[in-house]
Amino acid sequence: MGVLYENVVRPVLFRSEAERAHERAIGWLKLLLKTGPLVDLMAAYNTPAKSRPVKCFGLTFPNPVGLAAGFDKNAEIWPAMRALGFGFVEVGTVTRHEQPGNPRPRLFRLPESEALINRMGFNNEGAEAVAKRLSRGNAFKHRKFPLGVNIGKSKVTPLDQAAEDYLGSYHELADFADYFAINVSSPNTPELRELQEKSRLTDLLSQLLHADAERARKLGVPRIPFLVKIAPDLSYRQVDDVLETVLSLGMAGIIATNTMVARPEGIDDRGEKGGLSGKPIAGRSADMVKYISLATNGKLPIIGVGGIHDARSAGRMLDSGASLVQIYSSMVYRGPFFARDVARAALWHRAEWV
Ligand SMILES: Cc1cc2nc3c(=O)[nH]c(=O)nc-3n(C[C@H](O)[C@H](O)[C@H](O)COP(=O)(O)O)c2cc1C
Repeated sequence: MGVLYENVVRPVLFRSEAERAHERAIGWLKLLLKTGPLVDLMAAYNTPAKSRPVKCFGLTFPNPVGLAAGFDKNAEIWPAMRALGFGFVEVGTVTRHEQPGNPRPRLFRLPESEALINRMGFNNEGAEAVAKRLSRGNAFKHRKFPLGVNIGKSKVTPLDQAAEDYLGSYHELADFADYFAINVSSPNTPELRELQEKSRLTDLLSQLLHADAERARKLGVPRIPFLVKIAPDLSYRQVDDVLETVLSLGMAGIIATNTMVARPEGIDDRGEKGGLSGKPIAGRSADMVKYISLATNGKLPIIGVGGIHDARSAGRMLDSGASLVQIYSSMVYRGPFFARDVARAALWHRAEWV
């Protein structure tokens, strides 16, 4: 399939503008979802016979390879990703208020580097609409893998009211999240990344965790794991601050990393602003995962994401200390079954968290 994709499908897809090609892929996945049993058949075919589930922050993942946030922003096609070999999906980023994002074009391919640049700006239908979609039918109730929900700040909300904005999304979506990813690291919402600063981060996360403890007490349900997603542009000193907050609040884990603002040497970004993802950020993301793993004695669950483009880079992420990994950009270059191939390769790189 990889060869067929790279030689036949990809050249056709790459003739369209990048976001248009993405919309087309979402359209195909919606069709696949409508076929129902075909998803199950494909999932069975794409699951290795000897696969073992991974236990992490209280959840069980059929395999450690997830779809990173930003692909299924509005939770439209997530159940179909099982057919392609994924072990979990993170939908979003969802914001409290519906928003259009930045003007198009806002997504660019750098084929010579197997990279993407995006400045989407959290285009999404808003927490209420996404919650409504997730409440329809039985897809969530009968889900076969964990569903993460990634939430971020609405553009219209000033930074000092960020906590209320995240709390609004949390309350809308809590019934549909196996875990929450708190996105404070997208480069495309003005000031968002300032929420990674220690006092702001502590304030935001402690309010969210408090709300969740209250909900758990009132409804008699388990607490939802919260992970924070960080930028690859942070210095290690800044990472130390994030870790202090994450550990002192008893959060479930960390997602490292989001897209990168800096441009590694040799990358021609055609002068486009936005976050860089794909192959060129693989080294930086894996280094951050390793730093976090060493700093926490391997005790904090880490989802490693950034530039995984083959079995070796996935293995490096796992060897660096990630319990789970996510992919996005390389699916564009390597095809729809890239997750399945990574999941097969990952079978040999297992760490188990209970
Ligand atoms: C087009 C695009 C949109 C993205 N949107 C989001 C988003 O809404 N929220 C988020 O947390 N990360 C978002 N990301 C970042 C990815 O989740 C991931 O962290 C990053 O792309 C690195 O992984 P990769 O190199 O495998 O793509 C986006 C990435 C791309 C390419």
